[in-house]
Amino acid sequence: MGQLFVCWTGLGHGDCSAMQQLAAQGLRILESNPFTVDWMRRKVSVIGAGKVGSTIAHLLALKGMANVVLVNRTVGIAQGIALDIAEALPVEMSDVEVVGTGDYAAIAGSDIVVVTAGAQRKEGMSRDDLLKVNADIISSIAAEIKKHAPESKVIVITNPLDAMVYLVKKVTGFDRDRVIGMAGILDSSRFSSFIAEEVGVSVKDIHPLVLGSHGDTMVPLTRFTTISGKPVSDIVDKAKLDKIIERTRNGGAEIIKLEGSSAFYAPASSVVRMIDSILNDRKDVVPCSVYVDGEYGLEGVFIGLPVALGSKGVDRIVDLKLDESEMKMLSDSAAKIKSLMQQVDAMQLK
Ligand SMILES: NC(=O)c1ccc[n+]([C@@H]2O[C@H](COP(=O)([O-])OP(=O)(O)OC[C@H]3O[C@@H](n4cnc5c(N)ncnc54)[C@H](O)[C@@H]3O)[C@@H](O)[C@H]2O)c1
Repeated sequence: MGQLFVCWTGLGHGDCSAMQQLAAQGLRILESNPFTVDWMRRKVSVIGAGKVGSTIAHLLALKGMANVVLVNRTVGIAQGIALDIAEALPVEMSDVEVVGTGDYAAIAGSDIVVVTAGAQRKEGMSRDDLLKVNADIISSIAAEIKKHAPESKVIVITNPLDAMVYLVKKVTGFDRDRVIGMAGILDSSRFSSFIAEEVGVSVKDIHPLVLGSHGDTMVPLTRFTTISGKPVSDIVDKAKLDKIIERTRNGGAEIIKLEGSSAFYAPASSVVRMIDSILNDRKDVVPCSVYVDGEYGLEGVFIGLPVALGSKGVDRIVDLKLDESEMKMLSDSAAKIKSLMQQVDAMQLK
Protein backbone atom coordinates (compact mmCIF):
# COMPACT_ATOMS: atom_id res chain seq x y z
CA MET A 1 0.00 0.00 0.00
CA GLY A 2 0.97 3.64 -0.34
CA GLN A 3 1.18 6.64 1.95
CA LEU A 4 -1.54 8.94 3.29
CA PHE A 5 -0.62 12.46 4.35
CA VAL A 6 -2.99 13.64 7.05
CA CYS A 7 -3.36 17.38 7.64
CA TRP A 8 -6.23 18.09 10.01
CA THR A 9 -7.94 20.75 12.02
CA GLY A 10 -10.57 18.52 13.63
CA LEU A 11 -10.44 14.81 13.04
CA GLY A 12 -13.40 12.97 14.48
CA HIS A 13 -13.37 9.54 16.02
CA GLY A 14 -14.76 8.03 12.80
CA ASP A 15 -11.89 9.49 10.73
CA CYS A 16 -9.42 8.05 13.19
CA SER A 17 -10.89 4.57 13.08
CA ALA A 18 -10.95 4.65 9.26
CA MET A 19 -7.27 5.59 9.24
CA GLN A 20 -6.53 2.98 11.89
CA GLN A 21 -8.01 0.31 9.62
CA LEU A 22 -5.99 1.57 6.63
CA ALA A 23 -2.84 1.59 8.76
CA ALA A 24 -3.53 -2.00 9.83
CA GLN A 25 -3.61 -2.94 6.15
CA GLY A 26 -0.15 -1.48 5.61
CA LEU A 27 -0.86 2.15 4.62
CA ARG A 28 1.79 4.49 5.96
CA ILE A 29 0.20 7.50 7.65
CA LEU A 30 2.22 10.72 7.65
CA GLU A 31 1.00 13.43 10.01
CA SER A 32 1.22 17.19 9.71
CA ASN A 33 -0.05 17.96 13.19
CA PRO A 34 2.78 18.48 15.68
CA PHE A 35 0.79 16.70 18.39
CA THR A 36 0.35 12.95 18.21
CA VAL A 37 -3.26 11.72 18.22
CA ASP A 38 -4.05 9.11 20.85
CA TRP A 39 -4.80 6.27 18.51
CA MET A 40 -1.48 6.80 16.79
CA ARG A 41 0.47 6.97 20.03
CA ARG A 42 2.97 4.18 20.26
CA LYS A 43 3.91 2.02 23.20
CA VAL A 44 7.44 1.37 24.42
CA SER A 45 8.17 -1.00 27.30
CA VAL A 46 11.41 -0.73 29.22
CA ILE A 47 12.54 -3.77 31.20
CA GLY A 48 14.75 -2.80 34.13
CA ALA A 49 14.03 0.38 36.08
CA GLY A 50 17.65 1.03 37.05
CA LYS A 51 19.71 4.01 35.97
CA VAL A 52 19.58 3.36 32.23
CA GLY A 53 15.97 2.14 32.12
CA SER A 54 14.53 4.96 34.21
CA THR A 55 16.42 7.59 32.20
CA ILE A 56 15.08 6.13 28.94
CA ALA A 57 11.54 6.22 30.36
CA HIS A 58 12.05 9.82 31.48
CA LEU A 59 13.33 10.96 28.07
CA LEU A 60 10.56 9.17 26.16
CA ALA A 61 7.93 10.76 28.38
CA LEU A 62 9.44 14.26 28.26
CA LYS A 63 9.58 14.10 24.48
CA GLY A 64 6.03 12.72 24.33
CA MET A 65 7.26 9.96 22.04
CA ALA A 66 5.26 7.02 23.37
CA ASN A 67 3.28 5.61 26.26
CA VAL A 68 5.79 3.91 28.51
CA VAL A 69 5.61 0.73 30.59
CA LEU A 70 8.48 0.30 33.04
CA VAL A 71 9.00 -3.25 34.35
CA ASN A 72 11.24 -4.18 37.26
CA ARG A 73 11.53 -7.23 39.46
CA THR A 74 11.29 -4.90 42.47
CA VAL A 75 7.80 -3.66 41.66
CA GLY A 76 7.80 -0.68 44.03
CA ILE A 77 10.84 0.80 42.26
CA ALA A 78 9.15 0.59 38.84
CA GLN A 79 5.92 2.04 40.24
CA GLY A 80 7.66 4.82 42.14
CA ILE A 81 9.80 5.92 39.20
CA ALA A 82 6.82 5.80 36.81
CA LEU A 83 4.75 7.89 39.24
CA ASP A 84 7.55 10.42 39.67
CA ILE A 85 7.91 10.77 35.86
CA ALA A 86 4.13 10.98 35.38
CA GLU A 87 3.92 13.76 37.98
CA ALA A 88 6.49 15.78 35.98
CA LEU A 89 4.48 15.59 32.76
CA PRO A 90 1.90 18.31 33.46
CA VAL A 91 4.81 20.72 33.90
CA GLU A 92 6.40 19.43 30.70
CA MET A 93 3.07 19.60 28.81
CA SER A 94 3.36 15.97 27.81
CA ASP A 95 0.31 13.75 28.07
CA VAL A 96 1.75 10.28 27.51
CA GLU A 97 1.01 7.53 30.03
CA VAL A 98 3.78 6.09 32.19
CA VAL A 99 3.11 2.90 34.13
CA GLY A 100 5.39 0.96 36.47
CA THR A 101 4.81 -2.72 37.11
CA GLY A 102 6.32 -6.13 37.78
CA ASP A 103 3.79 -7.87 35.54
CA TYR A 104 4.99 -8.72 32.03
CA ALA A 105 1.41 -8.91 30.75
CA ALA A 106 1.57 -5.08 30.70
CA ILE A 107 4.04 -5.11 27.80
CA ALA A 108 1.45 -6.62 25.42
CA GLY A 109 1.04 -4.56 22.25
CA SER A 110 4.40 -2.78 22.61
CA ASP A 111 5.93 -1.47 19.42
CA ILE A 112 9.34 -1.68 21.03
CA VAL A 113 10.65 -3.46 24.14
CA VAL A 114 13.94 -2.16 25.52
CA VAL A 115 15.93 -4.54 27.73
CA THR A 116 18.11 -2.84 30.34
CA ALA A 117 17.75 -5.27 33.27
CA GLY A 118 20.80 -6.87 34.76
CA ALA A 119 23.98 -6.25 36.65
CA GLN A 120 26.32 -3.43 35.72
CA ARG A 121 30.11 -3.38 35.90
CA LYS A 122 32.06 -2.35 38.96
CA GLU A 123 35.48 -0.75 38.76
CA GLY A 124 38.09 -3.14 37.33
CA MET A 125 35.51 -5.43 35.70
CA SER A 126 35.21 -5.93 31.96
CA ARG A 127 31.78 -6.08 30.29
CA ASP A 128 32.42 -9.75 29.53
CA ASP A 129 32.67 -10.48 33.28
CA LEU A 130 28.89 -9.94 33.41
CA LEU A 131 28.13 -12.80 31.03
CA LYS A 132 27.12 -15.48 33.50
CA VAL A 133 24.96 -13.37 35.82
CA ASN A 134 23.22 -11.44 33.05
CA ALA A 135 22.62 -14.42 30.74
CA ASP A 136 20.23 -15.98 33.27
CA ILE A 137 18.31 -12.71 33.67
CA ILE A 138 18.16 -12.00 29.94
CA SER A 139 16.99 -15.46 28.93
CA SER A 140 14.03 -15.27 31.32
CA ILE A 141 13.13 -11.75 30.13
CA ALA A 142 13.38 -12.84 26.46
CA ALA A 143 10.90 -15.65 27.17
CA GLU A 144 8.46 -13.09 28.64
CA ILE A 145 8.84 -10.85 25.58
CA LYS A 146 8.16 -13.79 23.26
CA LYS A 147 5.04 -14.61 25.25
CA HIS A 148 3.57 -11.16 25.80
CA ALA A 149 4.89 -8.96 22.97
CA PRO A 150 5.52 -11.34 20.06
CA GLU A 151 5.17 -8.59 17.42
CA SER A 152 7.54 -6.12 19.08
CA LYS A 153 10.96 -4.94 18.04
CA VAL A 154 13.53 -5.51 20.81
CA ILE A 155 16.44 -3.22 21.63
CA VAL A 156 18.95 -4.76 24.03
CA ILE A 157 21.24 -2.68 26.25
CA THR A 158 22.43 -5.14 28.91
CA ASN A 159 26.12 -6.12 28.83
CA PRO A 160 28.03 -7.94 27.49
CA LEU A 161 26.00 -6.36 24.74
CA ASP A 162 26.59 -8.39 21.59
CA ALA A 163 26.28 -11.71 23.44
CA MET A 164 23.06 -10.60 25.19
CA VAL A 165 21.44 -9.52 21.89
CA TYR A 166 22.32 -12.93 20.53
CA LEU A 167 20.68 -14.58 23.54
CA VAL A 168 17.49 -12.54 23.07
CA LYS A 169 17.31 -13.55 19.40
CA LYS A 170 17.95 -17.17 20.31
CA VAL A 171 15.25 -17.36 23.01
CA THR A 172 12.58 -15.29 21.22
CA GLY A 173 13.22 -16.78 17.77
CA PHE A 174 12.37 -13.32 16.33
CA ASP A 175 13.80 -12.61 12.89
CA ARG A 176 16.96 -10.58 12.72
CA ASP A 177 15.27 -7.32 11.73
CA ARG A 178 13.55 -7.15 15.11
CA VAL A 179 16.42 -7.77 17.51
CA ILE A 180 18.98 -4.99 17.76
CA GLY A 181 21.66 -4.00 20.26
CA MET A 182 22.54 -0.47 21.33
CA ALA A 183 26.23 0.34 21.62
CA GLY A 184 27.61 1.90 18.43
CA ILE A 185 25.66 5.15 18.80
CA LEU A 186 27.02 5.55 22.32
CA ASP A 187 30.60 4.68 21.35
CA SER A 188 30.37 7.01 18.33
CA SER A 189 28.94 9.79 20.46
CA ARG A 190 31.79 9.44 22.94
CA PHE A 191 34.29 9.47 20.06
CA SER A 192 32.63 12.59 18.67
CA SER A 193 32.65 14.47 21.96
CA PHE A 194 36.38 13.80 22.49
CA ILE A 195 37.20 14.88 18.90
CA ALA A 196 35.13 18.07 19.29
CA GLU A 197 37.05 18.88 22.48
CA GLU A 198 40.41 18.29 20.76
CA VAL A 199 39.69 20.16 17.52
CA GLY A 200 37.51 22.91 18.96
CA VAL A 201 34.50 22.48 16.67
CA SER A 202 30.84 21.88 17.35
CA VAL A 203 29.79 18.27 17.79
CA LYS A 204 27.18 19.07 15.14
CA ASP A 205 29.93 19.23 12.49
CA ILE A 206 31.29 15.79 13.33
CA HIS A 207 29.99 12.56 11.83
CA PRO A 208 31.55 9.77 13.90
CA LEU A 209 31.55 6.06 13.15
CA VAL A 210 32.50 3.31 15.59
CA LEU A 211 31.73 -0.27 14.58
CA GLY A 212 32.54 -3.72 15.99
CA SER A 213 31.92 -5.01 19.47
CA HIS A 214 30.91 -2.94 22.49
CA GLY A 215 34.11 -3.85 24.26
CA ASP A 216 37.88 -3.86 23.98
CA THR A 217 37.73 -4.70 20.26
CA MET A 218 35.47 -1.82 19.22
CA VAL A 219 36.46 -0.36 15.86
CA PRO A 220 36.58 3.46 15.63
CA LEU A 221 36.88 4.22 11.92
CA THR A 222 38.96 7.35 11.41
CA ARG A 223 38.56 7.38 7.60
CA PHE A 224 34.78 7.39 7.92
CA THR A 225 34.66 9.78 10.86
CA THR A 226 34.45 13.21 9.28
CA ILE A 227 34.55 16.84 10.34
CA SER A 228 32.57 18.87 7.82
CA GLY A 229 33.18 16.14 5.27
CA LYS A 230 36.94 15.74 5.89
CA PRO A 231 38.26 12.52 7.49
CA VAL A 232 39.38 13.13 11.08
CA SER A 233 42.61 11.25 10.25
CA ASP A 234 43.50 14.20 7.91
CA ILE A 235 42.84 16.74 10.66
CA VAL A 236 44.09 15.31 13.96
CA ASP A 237 47.65 13.92 14.13
CA LYS A 238 48.04 10.20 14.69
CA ALA A 239 49.38 10.32 18.26
CA LYS A 240 46.47 12.50 19.43
CA LEU A 241 43.95 10.41 17.51
CA ASP A 242 45.30 7.21 19.06
CA LYS A 243 44.77 8.73 22.51
CA ILE A 244 41.19 9.70 21.60
CA ILE A 245 40.53 6.16 20.34
CA GLU A 246 41.90 4.70 23.57
CA ARG A 247 39.74 7.05 25.61
CA THR A 248 36.69 6.06 23.54
CA ARG A 249 37.39 2.35 24.12
CA ASN A 250 37.60 3.07 27.84
CA GLY A 251 34.74 5.59 27.87
CA GLY A 252 32.54 3.41 30.07
CA ALA A 253 35.35 2.57 32.50
CA GLU A 254 36.32 6.24 32.83
CA ILE A 255 32.84 7.05 34.10
CA ILE A 256 32.74 4.06 36.46
CA LYS A 257 36.04 5.22 37.95
CA LEU A 258 34.73 8.74 38.52
CA GLU A 259 31.18 7.97 39.54
CA GLY A 260 31.41 4.52 41.05
CA SER A 261 28.69 3.21 38.73
CA SER A 262 28.21 2.97 35.00
CA ALA A 263 27.01 5.63 32.58
CA PHE A 264 23.34 6.24 31.91
CA TYR A 265 22.65 9.68 30.38
CA ALA A 266 24.55 9.04 27.13
CA PRO A 267 23.38 5.40 26.87
CA ALA A 268 19.74 6.46 27.37
CA SER A 269 20.00 9.25 24.75
CA SER A 270 21.47 6.74 22.32
CA VAL A 271 18.57 4.33 22.83
CA VAL A 272 16.01 7.09 22.40
CA ARG A 273 17.62 8.02 19.06
CA MET A 274 17.06 4.42 17.91
CA ILE A 275 13.47 4.43 19.17
CA ASP A 276 12.76 7.69 17.35
CA SER A 277 14.07 6.33 14.06
CA ILE A 278 12.04 3.12 14.39
CA LEU A 279 8.77 4.67 15.57
CA ASN A 280 8.88 7.35 12.89
CA ASP A 281 10.35 5.16 10.14
CA ARG A 282 13.17 7.70 9.71
CA LYS A 283 15.77 5.28 8.33
CA ASP A 284 18.53 7.05 10.29
CA VAL A 285 21.81 5.30 9.53
CA VAL A 286 23.40 4.57 12.89
CA PRO A 287 25.79 1.91 14.16
CA CYS A 288 23.93 -0.87 15.99
CA SER A 289 24.63 -4.46 16.92
CA VAL A 290 22.89 -6.58 14.26
CA TYR A 291 22.97 -10.19 13.18
CA VAL A 292 25.10 -10.54 10.06
CA ASP A 293 24.49 -13.17 7.49
CA GLY A 294 27.18 -12.61 4.88
CA GLU A 295 27.40 -8.80 5.08
CA TYR A 296 30.97 -7.52 5.38
CA GLY A 297 32.11 -11.09 4.74
CA LEU A 298 30.95 -12.05 8.25
CA GLU A 299 28.61 -14.88 9.13
CA GLY A 300 26.44 -15.78 12.12
CA VAL A 301 27.47 -13.08 14.58
CA PHE A 302 25.95 -10.00 16.23
CA ILE A 303 28.26 -7.06 15.66
CA GLY A 304 28.11 -3.28 15.36
CA LEU A 305 27.56 -2.16 11.76
CA PRO A 306 25.90 0.87 10.14
CA VAL A 307 22.19 0.17 9.95
CA ALA A 308 19.22 2.10 8.57
CA LEU A 309 16.56 1.89 11.31
CA GLY A 310 12.94 2.06 10.22
CA SER A 311 9.49 0.80 11.12
CA LYS A 312 10.43 -2.84 10.73
CA GLY A 313 13.55 -2.43 12.88
CA VAL A 314 16.62 -3.09 10.77
CA ASP A 315 15.62 -1.71 7.38
CA ARG A 316 19.01 -2.63 5.93
CA ILE A 317 22.68 -2.94 6.77
CA VAL A 318 24.64 -0.24 4.95
CA ASP A 319 27.68 -1.47 3.09
CA LEU A 320 30.96 0.47 3.41
CA LYS A 321 34.09 -0.41 1.50
CA LEU A 322 36.52 -1.11 4.32
CA ASP A 323 40.23 -1.36 3.57
CA GLU A 324 42.33 -4.33 4.66
CA SER A 325 43.32 -3.00 8.09
CA GLU A 326 39.77 -1.87 8.91
CA MET A 327 38.41 -5.25 7.83
CA LYS A 328 41.00 -7.00 9.99
CA MET A 329 39.88 -5.02 13.07
CA LEU A 330 36.24 -5.89 12.34
CA SER A 331 37.05 -9.60 11.86
CA ASP A 332 39.04 -9.68 15.12
CA SER A 333 36.10 -8.08 16.87
CA ALA A 334 33.71 -10.65 15.35
CA ALA A 335 35.97 -13.50 16.52
CA LYS A 336 35.90 -12.15 20.09
CA ILE A 337 32.11 -11.85 20.04
CA LYS A 338 31.73 -15.36 18.61
CA SER A 339 33.65 -16.80 21.52
CA LEU A 340 31.19 -15.10 23.91
CA MET A 341 28.27 -16.41 21.86
CA GLN A 342 29.72 -19.91 22.20
CA GLN A 343 29.83 -19.45 25.96
CA VAL A 344 26.15 -18.48 25.84
CA ASP A 345 25.37 -21.61 23.79
CA ALA A 346 27.25 -23.76 26.32
CA MET A 347 24.95 -22.51 29.08
CA GLN A 348 22.02 -24.16 27.30
CA LEU A 349 19.57 -21.51 28.45
CA LYS A 350 16.01 -21.62 27.13
N1 LIG B 1 24.97 -1.19 25.75
C1 LIG B 1 25.48 -0.14 26.36
O1 LIG B 1 26.09 0.72 25.74
C2 LIG B 1 25.29 0.03 27.84
C3 LIG B 1 25.47 1.29 28.44
C4 LIG B 1 25.23 1.42 29.82
C5 LIG B 1 24.84 0.31 30.57
N2 LIG B 1 24.72 -0.89 29.95
C6 LIG B 1 24.29 -2.10 30.69
O2 LIG B 1 22.90 -1.96 30.97
C7 LIG B 1 22.61 -2.74 32.15
C8 LIG B 1 21.82 -1.89 33.12
O3 LIG B 1 22.61 -0.83 33.59
P1 LIG B 1 22.06 0.15 34.74
O4 LIG B 1 23.10 1.16 34.97
O5 LIG B 1 20.68 0.60 34.44
O6 LIG B 1 22.02 -0.87 35.98
P2 LIG B 1 21.16 -0.73 37.33
O7 LIG B 1 21.80 -1.64 38.32
O8 LIG B 1 20.98 0.70 37.69
O9 LIG B 1 19.72 -1.30 36.91
C9 LIG B 1 19.48 -2.62 36.59
C10 LIG B 1 18.03 -2.88 36.95
O10 LIG B 1 17.66 -4.17 36.46
C11 LIG B 1 16.77 -4.70 37.43
N3 LIG B 1 16.66 -6.14 37.24
C12 LIG B 1 17.59 -7.08 37.51
N4 LIG B 1 17.11 -8.31 37.19
C13 LIG B 1 15.86 -8.12 36.70
C14 LIG B 1 14.87 -8.99 36.18
N5 LIG B 1 15.06 -10.31 36.12
N6 LIG B 1 13.71 -8.45 35.75
C15 LIG B 1 13.50 -7.12 35.77
N7 LIG B 1 14.41 -6.24 36.25
C16 LIG B 1 15.56 -6.74 36.72
C17 LIG B 1 17.36 -4.31 38.77
O11 LIG B 1 16.39 -4.39 39.81
C18 LIG B 1 17.77 -2.88 38.46
O12 LIG B 1 16.71 -1.97 38.74
C19 LIG B 1 23.96 -3.24 32.67
O13 LIG B 1 24.19 -4.55 32.21
C20 LIG B 1 24.95 -2.27 32.02
O14 LIG B 1 26.23 -2.85 31.91
C21 LIG B 1 24.93 -1.06 28.61
